[in-house]
Amino acid sequence: MINASALRDTPTLVGERIRLVPLGPEHTDAYFSASLDEEIRRLTGSHRHLTYEDARERCERRPADGDRLDLAIISREDGSYLGDLFLYAISPENESAGYHITLSALRFAGQGLGREATRLVLEYAFDRVGLHRIWLYVYTFNMRAIAVYRSCGFTVEGRLRDSLFWEGRRHDALLMGVLRSDIPAKED
Ligand SMILES: CC(C)(COP(=O)(O)OP(=O)(O)OC[C@H]1O[C@@H](n2cnc3c(N)ncnc32)[C@H](O)[C@@H]1OP(=O)(O)O)[C@@H](O)C(=O)NCCC(=O)NCCS
Repeated sequence: MINASALRDTPTLVGERIRLVPLGPEHTDAYFSASLDEEIRRLTGSHRHLTYEDARERCERRPADGDRLDLAIISREDGSYLGDLFLYAISPENESAGYHITLSALRFAGQGLGREATRLVLEYAFDRVGLHRIWLYVYTFNMRAIAVYRSCGFTVEGRLRDSLFWEGRRHDALLMGVLRSDIPAKED
């Protein structure tokens, strides 16, 4: 049984260097700029170019049925937008959800922010929402993302062969998952 109200309350999660806040209209400009970054588009296999209107709609989306949770990653130091993440396909029956994270530019990568954000979300999803399983897809060439997911407890569960066709080459994706029981309980 999951705690659906924890999701509907669209929480703010506070870490050491970042805050995760509900994605909102005030993030539209930064979200749209991030969607134009060619390297981020490759790493996430994003073929479609978003219009500004698409970005606005995504930032304003408030799923009424609690099947997803969109959060912006905000720097605690200066309040700037660093990226976004979301839990989606949330299944109360199976106590499971999909996960996706994107920093808004590679200049923010490699500083531990993605790991901090992922740990915050997993703690929230498992301990407060009561989910049992979180899964994700990642392309095999995205070694940085795979390293972060592994260090947060995810393991590889499957391989989707040739699932991305990018600039004339095909790439496999990995299905990774983590169960609540995979994460050691915190010591007080
Ligand atoms: C994936 C992403 C969220 C990771 O967040 P991050 O803040 O850059 O990652 P962190 O700094 O927390 O950790 C990076 C880790 O990857 C490791 N790493 C970096 N490049 C690597 C490589 N080529 N091979 C193996 N490990 C690598 C680093 O050593 C580090 O691990 P360590 O701290 O144990 O040394 C972020 O880089 C991002 O948003 N990238 C662009 C979009 C994207 O790829 N999204 C994921 C889609 S599935």
